[in-house]
Amino acid sequence: MRLTLNVWRQKDSKSDGKFVTYDAPDISPDMSFLEMLDVVNERLILKGEDPIAFDHDCREGICGMCGIVVNGNPHGPRRGTTACQLHMRTFKDGDTITLEPWRATPFPVVKDLVVDRGAFDRVIAAGGFVSVSTGGAPDGNAIPVPKGNADLAMDAAACIGCAACVAACPNASAMLFVSAKISHLGLLPQGQPERRSRVESMVAQMDAEGFGTCTNHGECEAACPKGIRMEFIGRMNGDFVKASLTSGRRETAGGGGTG
Ligand code: SF4
Ligand code: FES
Repeated sequence: MRLTLNVWRQKDSKSDGKFVTYDAPDISPDMSFLEMLDVVNERLILKGEDPIAFDHDCREGICGMCGIVVNGNPHGPRRGTTACQLHMRTFKDGDTITLEPWRATPFPVVKDLVVDRGAFDRVIAAGGFVSVSTGGAPDGNAIPVPKGNADLAMDAAACIGCAACVAACPNASAMLFVSAKISHLGLLPQGQPERRSRVESMVAQMDAEGFGTCTNHGECEAACPKGIRMEFIGRMNGDFVKASLTSGRRETAGGGGTG
């Protein structure tokens, strides 16, 4: 395949960026998107040019590092697929592909396609700890978990923290991500003791980082490579209202069940 790449090049967060066009011949349809970028970068290095900076780690769709907007779509055109799991056979010979970083004020560009997603780490850190008993490992069935709750918690835990939801949202809202993190603990018995303080702290940090609010566009759900559903935002909002109503006069343990 021969492709034309329009790539956002930006030296650092303080410099202005611009699109630069690259010719990309001899690309195998069996390459992953990131392998294609590796090949383009090897050729740039051989010519003495600065390679394109992009984030990646696992290249297996599980770490959430590979955030690139491909032709206007976070992670590219295939639904439910991270950029690292996207293959060049998705495109046609002769295509022009535009590559941009996540664009959201809380994620400053570090270089080219790499953004600083430390805002997500700070939201997670604000969630604090989970109270657990010390001692020997309990029997697997010692804490009963209703099947429906276990399934929903697993669905929420599939979030890989990639931030495509923020990149896709016209408000740069992080509510899909934050609601997934809040829900996967809030649905399980082990997450109950800090359930309400956790939602208050994480939502406060989300707001402090400058993320926008949700106005139900649904772009987050459409862009999410892990199928996280907007119903978790409803769960988070419900938890937040309950937490706000009981703030400062809350029972110290139990947290009110899993409802
Ligand atoms: S909710 Fe989906 S899009 Fe957002 S961070 Fe999690 S996996 Fe990525
Ligand atoms: S590199 Fe880990 S999810 Fe893409």
